[in-house]
Amino acid sequence: MKENNIYFGADYYPEHWPRDRWETDAKLMKEAGFDAVRMAEFSWEKMEPEPGRFCFDWLDEAIAVLDSHGIKTVLGTPSAAPPAWIIEEDPEILPVNNLGIRMGFGGRHHVCMTNKNYRKHITRFVTAMAGHFKDNESVIGWQIDNELGNGHLENDVDIFRTHELCMCEHCRANFQNWLKKKYGTIENLNEAWGTVFWSQTYSDFRQIPAPKITPTSHNPSLLLDWKRFSSDLVIDFQQMQIDVIRGVCPDRFITHNFMGFFDKTDYFRLAENLDFVCHDQYPCGFWADDVAPVSDLAAALDLTRGFKDKPFWIMEQQAGPAGWETFGRTPRPGQLRLWTAQSVARGADAIFYFRWRTCLFGTEQYWHGVLPHRGVPGRRYDEIKQTVAQLRPVMEKIRGVKDRADAAILFSYEQNWALEIQPHHPDLDYISQVKKYHKYFCDKNIPVDFISAETDFSGYRLLIAPLQFLSFDGVAEKLKTYVSNGGHLVLTMRTGVKNENNVCLSDAPLPGSFGELTGVEILDYDCLREFGVRVSLGDETAGTAQKWCDIIDLNGAEAIARYADEFYKDSPAVTANAYQNGRVYYVGFEPDERLMSAIVDIISAKLGIKPISGAANGVEFVRRSSADGNYYFALNHSDRPAKITPNPGWEAVLGSDTLEPYDVAIFYEKVYNA
Ligand code: GLA
Ligand code: ZN
Repeated sequence: MKENNIYFGADYYPEHWPRDRWETDAKLMKEAGFDAVRMAEFSWEKMEPEPGRFCFDWLDEAIAVLDSHGIKTVLGTPSAAPPAWIIEEDPEILPVNNLGIRMGFGGRHHVCMTNKNYRKHITRFVTAMAGHFKDNESVIGWQIDNELGNGHLENDVDIFRTHELCMCEHCRANFQNWLKKKYGTIENLNEAWGTVFWSQTYSDFRQIPAPKITPTSHNPSLLLDWKRFSSDLVIDFQQMQIDVIRGVCPDRFITHNFMGFFDKTDYFRLAENLDFVCHDQYPCGFWADDVAPVSDLAAALDLTRGFKDKPFWIMEQQAGPAGWETFGRTPRPGQLRLWTAQSVARGADAIFYFRWRTCLFGTEQYWHGVLPHRGVPGRRYDEIKQTVAQLRPVMEKIRGVKDRADAAILFSYEQNWALEIQPHHPDLDYISQVKKYHKYFCDKNIPVDFISAETDFSGYRLLIAPLQFLSFDGVAEKLKTYVSNGGHLVLTMRTGVKNENNVCLSDAPLPGSFGELTGVEILDYDCLREFGVRVSLGDETAGTAQKWCDIIDLNGAEAIARYADEFYKDSPAVTANAYQNGRVYYVGFEPDERLMSAIVDIISAKLGIKPISGAANGVEFVRRSSADGNYYFALNHSDRPAKITPNPGWEAVLGSDTLEPYDVAIFYEKVYNA
């Protein structure tokens, strides 16, 4: 049953509540219009209180109670929180951080993903759990673990704050085997990493460390391979459970809940063997002063859609104020509906609110759910009930449809990892720069996709590929083909600098293998630290270059913007190069918002790429098409009313052209040749 319905529901923990409350919960869910729950992803001890004694009866009962009200179940495999008896049996399951300190029992994700005993317990338990529920028609699918990798260890020594997986001796040996598979001989590794530097040449793979803290900095090539290994380890940890469930209940879907721009695992690869991906969307977390910027929320959803180039589910949609030890802000009236509509507009086909009822105990006593601690429906329940009733009819029409944008942004975990290791400028951050390009499209209400290097580029008219810092032969070739066939490509500062082993290239001037495509040479550059450099378009100062300036010599390209300061004043800052049937732009810096708008306006205009609707300040417009037309979501994220101008031919399905604060309107446009 590869589910392809739409669902509304909640993340439900029956084990937190008396048995006689379950019926009440199921009724209230039904009245809210819910038809699904996720359960059990943190319930290992309840299902196996001691080795080999399985207790699934309580879960059978909860599933049955819910199903009697038409509510289906997604089951989570509980490998994110092993029972104490497993840790007691093998304390080495507890992870070691990069200070070499073994973490204690408690919290969650307190596991070493290499540990063989732990993997045996997981395989044994998931086999039993899948076997028990495989014929239960109320169970529609499985979520593997929960937010894999979200336990990356944060040590408490600020200058060494890294979020790494376990660095125990088992993980070190695992890493060494990974390296042996990759390089074959230790000589190849020494050559690839340049270990001759600072006398780090290895004579045996067994000498290679997990990158625990050192007095200075590790070899950048070692660090990049460690990040690749850590991502592979998470992917392998998930695959182990996918294999079990595929074998036992092949007709149920398997998914996992991703975390947007969380960057410890290559999510495109983590998504590969899942039927679809889920995302956890918390616009207003306890870690922030207020709601995240609209474009950040939109980017996380657009990225999630890109992982499998298809719609996704929201497995955790914010349902109230967030909180662990501290609180986030309380969602204002309308925001829960607004955020839900944004998730749907950008590709969600199902919404599970986190959580059903605010828990009375444990770390998340202040992570508020649909119901408050006392379990009585209030403002948030009513708003969510209204949301379900209003969005469900539209979702039925757009389910499963994934629109193709004209523009795409190439997203690479390996580029991100390499720039995490050596950011150049203290504040240069790959994901922030990528989001700046995305923000241009979001603010202008121009649809944009996130894609990986494995995606087929040909469907896009404009491809933005920021910070192609590492050169991968295959990618450079693919980009060349894309441009030759008429594609317009934007490359940026620090492109073509290194090979894929994180070693600087020296066989050509920068941008290395992209020189022919870009028609430029970069013989010098300038890290700007705390100041910016003005950039002019014609006689006008169009904005400021930040963090870095590539100092560009033209080698066939034309300058479309020039620096207006420093010893490289009047030299090209942004270039354009006609290359076969396409065009390649090179942006030699990180633009501020004004300059970003000026530059990408020129590039988009050249292609006739336009907004889907007239932008109205603070109103986000998103289109999702259906079999016979388009649905336009107008989302007012501001605390002020907004007047919008629906395009001629748009029919109001929800709301109108006058949006109250945090309001939603949906319009339908029939497309006759659809
Ligand atoms: C994550 C986890 C949930 C819950 C929320 C709130 O999204 O998936 O289990 O912990 O955070 O903290
Ligand atoms: Zn380990």
